[in-house]
Amino acid sequence: MLRRLYHDQPDVFAFTPANKAWAEGQITKYPEGRQASAVIPLLWRAQEQEGWLTRPAIEHVAEMLDMAYIRVLEVASFYFMFQLQPVGSVAHIQICGTLSCMICGAEDLVAVCKEKIAAKPHTLSEDGKFSWEEVECLGSCANAPMAQIGKDYYEDLTTAKLGELIDEMAAGRVPTPGPQNGRYAAEPLKGLTSLTEYDSGKTQYNASVQLATDLGDTIKRIDGTEVPLLTPWIAKASKPAAKKPATKKAPVKAAAPKPAAKKLAAKAKGPTKPRTMKAPRKAGADDLKLISGVGPKLEQTLNELGFWHFDQIAKWTKAEIEWVDDRLKFKGRITRDKWIAQAKKLAK
Ligand code: FES
Repeated sequence: MLRRLYHDQPDVFAFTPANKAWAEGQITKYPEGRQASAVIPLLWRAQEQEGWLTRPAIEHVAEMLDMAYIRVLEVASFYFMFQLQPVGSVAHIQICGTLSCMICGAEDLVAVCKEKIAAKPHTLSEDGKFSWEEVECLGSCANAPMAQIGKDYYEDLTTAKLGELIDEMAAGRVPTPGPQNGRYAAEPLKGLTSLTEYDSGKTQYNASVQLATDLGDTIKRIDGTEVPLLTPWIAKASKPAAKKPATKKAPVKAAAPKPAAKKLAAKAKGPTKPRTMKAPRKAGADDLKLISGVGPKLEQTLNELGFWHFDQIAKWTKAEIEWVDDRLKFKGRITRDKWIAQAKKLAK
């Protein structure tokens, strides 16, 4: 299958605010200079948002990660988890066509897709609800033939069963994933011959199917309503920002606030610019790269902002961290990597 960009592309792509916050959180997982490692999660989230990967989405992810467009396109076109053309609004069906599945009837399953969805793969059904393609081994050979529908596997399929699954999904229902012939997992068709004391009744379904049914996202796309969407350190870092409305109250406070009230007002103030320096002290700048999480690029940014010494960073308050955070590309890093504690030690 030749994987190339779809001929009809939208003009622009932008992450929703929730997805953008999530994407920025993913980037902070990786050390300075290694942000490209977040390429697959970001592409996946872009696909979840749009249904398929558009050229503007690929370029947007490349820009977020400082990567060349071609590098991101290479990733997007290599993995067939990424759809480079529009897919069905209800489900995209991936039929495994490799050896075990082929011997056990994959070609008949493809025939069902041709009849019920579209004559050609990567083509939308007339009602736009489904699309299909044939893929390579999905690693579920003991349950051949099988198909991945949405995020889950439907195994031990027959043509009749696949037809039923499509009809059920078209009607808005999500049949339980996993083996469709009554098997619990991948035990022999005639039942267990060893480990017969194994208690398969611990959960109603095998672990994969149990998780799939618990999550309930077989054909549901992540839309930003999931909780928790934010990475924990970002959630913490964004807490003070939630207090922002309090800043409006500050100007109308009494003319001579008491010291305690002053402190409270400062707390609710939101981002505050820390004291900066135009140049390092005479003895020379500290090597800020000694702070774990600070690489050459971040050090340069910090210098440009007016921070040259460990003791400057060691004094940042919460509001000041917010201010600096707003100016760094990878939000949340200061808190997550404990810059303040590190800077205090280094300053000593
Ligand atoms: S051959 Fe189909 S899952 Fe491996």
